[in-house]
Amino acid sequence: MEVDRRAFIASLGGAAAVATMSSEAKADALEHYMEEKLDEMVAAQGRGGQGQTPGQPEKFPTVAEIEDRIEKSNVRRGAGSLFASNRGNVKKLEPMPKVPTLLDFYKLRFEPANHVLQSATRAMKTGMSEEIILACLMHDVVLNLIKPDHGWWGAQLIEPYVPEKTAFAVRYHQTLRFYPDPEAGYEYPDQYYRIFGIDYTPPPHIEATYKMLKNHKWYMEPRMVTVNDLYAFDPNAKVSIEPFIDVIGRHFKTPKEGLGNDNSPSAHMWRTIARPDSPL
Ligand SMILES: [Fe+2]
Ligand SMILES: [Fe+2]
Repeated sequence: MEVDRRAFIASLGGAAAVATMSSEAKADALEHYMEEKLDEMVAAQGRGGQGQTPGQPEKFPTVAEIEDRIEKSNVRRGAGSLFASNRGNVKKLEPMPKVPTLLDFYKLRFEPANHVLQSATRAMKTGMSEEIILACLMHDVVLNLIKPDHGWWGAQLIEPYVPEKTAFAVRYHQTLRFYPDPEAGYEYPDQYYRIFGIDYTPPPHIEATYKMLKNHKWYMEPRMVTVNDLYAFDPNAKVSIEPFIDVIGRHFKTPKEGLGNDNSPSAHMWRTIARPDSPL
């Protein structure tokens, strides 16, 4: 398989991020990247191969078809990416520094952070507030820990350290992803037909949350995360954490003891991300 060098480097967060990686980490990342590309190619062929002509509308799975896959996997779909490898064994992680900062987590535990970096890059380009840029930068990082209800988990993870609007936007972007708002520039994503099923309806707590948000004075905060989320899957985009260092400095209150060592209500979550191999 041919590797597009620029796309590969971009997928790791850009040249600056790659420069901080060990040779072993680079080799692993390359393997992971090639596997993902291969999966994409296989999926694209599969779509054309299921009695469909390439170019015809994609056939999305049903909820029942997705449920049928559960017992074909040794990992539940909700397991965070740090804890579950569906591509062979997990890899040894580089240790975190004694006093870890948010940037250390981006470099050592959130990688590849391409999706959130692309989302934040788009938010910055389109003139969003710094609270929303920060929300875009952090909106999916908790997926490394756990996936179900990731809006709530993600907000809880960052809440002690960020502005209230940022936590609000992260908590509720998950809900608003299910509800189109063409006026704001957000359509229901095809990706959700693929991962939830064509006939999926969100559970009652999501519906109730949507009802609450519709009339909330901060509705547009999580909505803007969804608007920037939608366009954030370009494998050729060049992204890096560097342009966000000032925004982080202004709005993320890094504890002097280091994230995880500060006894905040979410310190244990940071410690778990730092040490996912701990048996208890
Ligand atoms: Fe999300
Ligand atoms: Fe996202």
